[in-house]
Amino acid sequence: MKILVLGSAAGGGFPQWNCNCPNCQGVRKGSIRAHARTQSSIAVSSDGVDWILINASPDILSQIRANPALQPERGTRDTGIRAVVLMDAQIDHVTGLLMLREGRPLPLYCTASVWDDLSNGLPLAKVLSHYCGLLWQPLPAHRSAHEPCIRIPGFDDIGFTPLSLKSKAPPYSPKRDTPGADDNIGLLIEDRTTGRKLFYAPGLAEIEPHVDEAMRMADCVLVDGTLWTEDEMIRLGLSRKTASDMGHLPQSGPNGMMAALDALGTRRKILIHINNSNPILNEDSQEASILKNHGIETAFDGMEINL
Ligand code: MLT
Ligand code: MN
Ligand code: ZN
Repeated sequence: MKILVLGSAAGGGFPQWNCNCPNCQGVRKGSIRAHARTQSSIAVSSDGVDWILINASPDILSQIRANPALQPERGTRDTGIRAVVLMDAQIDHVTGLLMLREGRPLPLYCTASVWDDLSNGLPLAKVLSHYCGLLWQPLPAHRSAHEPCIRIPGFDDIGFTPLSLKSKAPPYSPKRDTPGADDNIGLLIEDRTTGRKLFYAPGLAEIEPHVDEAMRMADCVLVDGTLWTEDEMIRLGLSRKTASDMGHLPQSGPNGMMAALDALGTRRKILIHINNSNPILNEDSQEASILKNHGIETAFDGMEINL
């Protein structure tokens, strides 16, 4: 199974268009050692020709251009993207669907809560019914990693187990402050031939027991790397929101993501969906070296994971 990181930044990307925080200014001016990143998305394939897109970021067109594997050029009009899976209805994960409107009807795997947001609060489903159209395939949000996996036609050797996650519905959603079990999911993705597994959760506020179990079952975890500290955005004067207000678990602190990843032992651990304010983006920062010492990697655009 191949996993391509198409975009490794959180909403806004890195640098963010209107941001002059030390990271955004530094990468723009070239005064810090850091790499620009597009917004959060990965693609999964077993043959390197047909792909499942997981999250459709507003940067999808430049991501497709940067990853020629996604355009196998088998016909006058063609794409390697056979289906899309959504983890939530956040703008950085869904608005790329609009850019895929010239294609064929697109199988879209998401929960009822996400489909409801895409039918009402941000009605991409209605808009796209006048273009390619979306073929909704409902996803459950399980509370056990041992539930039978979902299979996507054409991808017989990959299994998907969607797991309910504590995070947040998008700010535009009526569910923002009344969370439901299927607003956000994580995915345990299994290569059914080798049995190797990836756990993917770009938005994760709390590691509940069933999530911890899925992380322990995985050979590689690719998880929420949005913020280093709970009050990072407030201290930098960028926002009034804490990490938990936004539905993200910060890396630092005794109950942070780094401590949870440490407890997983030696398997491969990678952070993704990194906000532009996060000090780990500066490769010479103390925080970047702390991560390195903990054996935790930081995803970058174009990163390939082979499982
Ligand atoms: C989030 O996950 O909190 C987002 O990146 C917000 C956004 O898309 O602006
Ligand atoms: Mn996001
Ligand atoms: Zn910034």
